[in-house]
Amino acid sequence: MARPLTDLARQRDVLFVGGKGGVGKTAVASALGLSVARTGRPVLVVSTDPAHNLGHLWQRTVGDSPVDLAPRLRGLEIDPARTTDEHLGAVRATLRRLMADHLQGEVDKHLDLARDAPGTHEAAVLERIAEVVEQRPSEELVIFDTAPSGHTTRLIALPELMQAWTEGLLRRQDRSARFGAALRGLEGADYDAAELIGSRRLPGSGTSIGPRRTQDRRARRDEEIRTVLDRRQHRFRQLREVLQDRSRTGFVVVAAAERLPVLESIELHEQLTRSGMDVAALVVNKRSPADAGELLATRRQVEDGYVAQLTAALPALPVTEIPLLPGEVLGENGLEALVAHLG
Ligand SMILES: Nc1ncnc2c1ncn2[C@@H]1O[C@H](COP(=O)(O)OP(=O)(O)O)[C@@H](O)[C@H]1O
Ligand SMILES: [Mg+2]
Repeated sequence: MARPLTDLARQRDVLFVGGKGGVGKTAVASALGLSVARTGRPVLVVSTDPAHNLGHLWQRTVGDSPVDLAPRLRGLEIDPARTTDEHLGAVRATLRRLMADHLQGEVDKHLDLARDAPGTHEAAVLERIAEVVEQRPSEELVIFDTAPSGHTTRLIALPELMQAWTEGLLRRQDRSARFGAALRGLEGADYDAAELIGSRRLPGSGTSIGPRRTQDRRARRDEEIRTVLDRRQHRFRQLREVLQDRSRTGFVVVAAAERLPVLESIELHEQLTRSGMDVAALVVNKRSPADAGELLATRRQVEDGYVAQLTAALPALPVTEIPLLPGEVLGENGLEALVAHLG
């Protein structure tokens, strides 16, 4: 019998589980993790969904550091606020050291805006994902239980967005440095004022040394700030290489056999493929039974139509169907039934 999910989990180092909210991403990620851990390979399940429910499913508190869920199976829920604070704290400390005193207010203003700016939260999640992948022990499987559709593909585009953010920060500082210095008549004002209205340097005059020195200083400062910010981008680029390496990373799309989850899964597959990620398996969860009364049998027929639509749109993907279970999926016992259906 084909066992696409467990085979995939054996072959890769990093799996992403994604799909619409409520389809069973956390349940499938946990069941897959449990089944692999039972073969002897250590597994870390990482929830990146801001609406974490890994802890609820396992009925224990799971935080930003790994906790044991079962033998060889650990779980972690990413806390983007903590990562954002750490990152912005490091950037702020560097900028404080490098920028003139009178620009500290400007630095604070920019970083306070950055905390709530679009992308900051996602950058923090990405940073934590990168950290987890970098620190992965060589034999471990990492399963990311992701936020609903769209999220992961945006993460892949982030290194470029971060570049724009870095450049914006540096440009803004340049402007403030010039205006600030020119207005206050502080050191370097001759250069800054001259630069504002076009160069007025006189050949052979002493003032020509000043501008060059100021320029050198600014270039050195920018370079150091860029190094700090670039370190993060470099990390993101390395992560992206791992994510786009189909021998190491795969994406598992989870869907329910209903109209919207099916449409979203097709869209998600398209986005991921465009981002260079390998969508390696499809799970259709909560399939109604054909032999448990007329209502469910009718539902099953409707679902059959959606499964057909899904497999017609994504013909190359191996499909694993999981039946609708009578109870809630809770704890290791609750996951047993799911594990049995993974093959
Ligand atoms: N095959 C299944 N049969 C019955 N209930 C399920 C099944 N899979 C998941 N559930 C339940 O559906 C709800 C949503 O599952 P969850 O894994 O939290 O979804 P997601 O992480 O995609 O939001 C949970 O209450 C879970 O117990
Ligand atoms: Mg979930």
